[in-house]
Amino acid sequence: MVIRHSPGLDRFEYQKKCTEVLRKILLYVSENDFLKSKLPQMKFVKNARSRFMPGETLQEALEAAVDLQQKGAMSVFTLLGESVEDATEAEGVVGHYQQVLLEITNRRLTSEISLKLTQIGVDIDRRLASSNLNIILECAERLGLFVWIDIEGSQYTDITTEIYEEAVANHPNVGLCLQAYLYRTDSDIDRILSLHPAIRLVKGAYLESPEIAFPTKTAVDRNYLKLADKLLSVQARGEARIVFATHDNQIIASIIESLELHKELTVTDLEFHMLYGVSRSTQTSLLEEGSQVGVLIAYGSAWFPWYMRRLAERPANLWFVLRKVFSN
Ligand code: FDA
Repeated sequence: MVIRHSPGLDRFEYQKKCTEVLRKILLYVSENDFLKSKLPQMKFVKNARSRFMPGETLQEALEAAVDLQQKGAMSVFTLLGESVEDATEAEGVVGHYQQVLLEITNRRLTSEISLKLTQIGVDIDRRLASSNLNIILECAERLGLFVWIDIEGSQYTDITTEIYEEAVANHPNVGLCLQAYLYRTDSDIDRILSLHPAIRLVKGAYLESPEIAFPTKTAVDRNYLKLADKLLSVQARGEARIVFATHDNQIIASIIESLELHKELTVTDLEFHMLYGVSRSTQTSLLEEGSQVGVLIAYGSAWFPWYMRRLAERPANLWFVLRKVFSN
């Protein structure tokens, strides 16, 4: 697709259209099997992953968490990988997360974990994923720790919300990520509110059709703020733990301003989560103001699709990759 800079299109609109096309290309690459297997082997692509990851190993992730803790931030560990289609591999992921929970306890870290149901077998059998999740939740419960469930592409929204609803009925230490770009999220929130849930609100990182998702950034942002307002009311009543996972400074400022309308809450009740390596100065300011900040630390060798989704969020990040090409 070629976008011509026609006189009818002002500079801002033209840039917006180019960014949107680039975003679609990057999201396409993130799901293309051939590119997924070839590109990560290239040295410059490997080097560029440092933009969002302290390293591929758990050890490197744990060291990054110590550093963050010294700065007053909490960390959330996530092992990269999705689409696990083998029960033994899924079992390995369960064992790995149990090890992470033990490491968090032994090192006295203020940390949580975040996992994808496709990593623990949802594509093989729904019951297998539920039972694997239970094993992880029971281990976390014994250690007094908390587990987040990521939300993936829309083909998984039903099954993820259903498995979450079953899990939270027995384990209060589990939270669910929900995407503001989906039209359905408002009613998903209404349905799960009675369960005293923990909700991490994000904008959404996958390529979705306008039939099911708001197609423009403006509309997604508007819906994010609408949902944030609803969630703050619930938090004010003490009926849920709410996390706003965003780097969007305008959204963060609007949420803080909206405390005027939620007088039971103060800035110290607000919890924001961000990605490792992104918006560090915003993290510092929020910590200075007294809000709680969590940083998602991703690690593992299967980082490519996740990494491409990060580039798609801000195509300007491509300059970082290009700098790595020319510095090698
Ligand atoms: P937006 O994309 O509008 O960006 C606002 C500004 O933030 C940008 O202008 C830029 O300055 C900065 N920024 C954002 N992303 C950046 C990046 N990658 N690199 C550099 N700067 C960047 N999604 C999902 O579908 N399921 C999930 O489970 C999760 N989980 C999750 C956990 C956590 C802790 C975070 C922070 C995010 C997710 N996401 C997610 C990703 C989320 O849906 C969304 O794609 C990104 O957070 C980017 O959206 P923002 O809200 O930051 O706004």
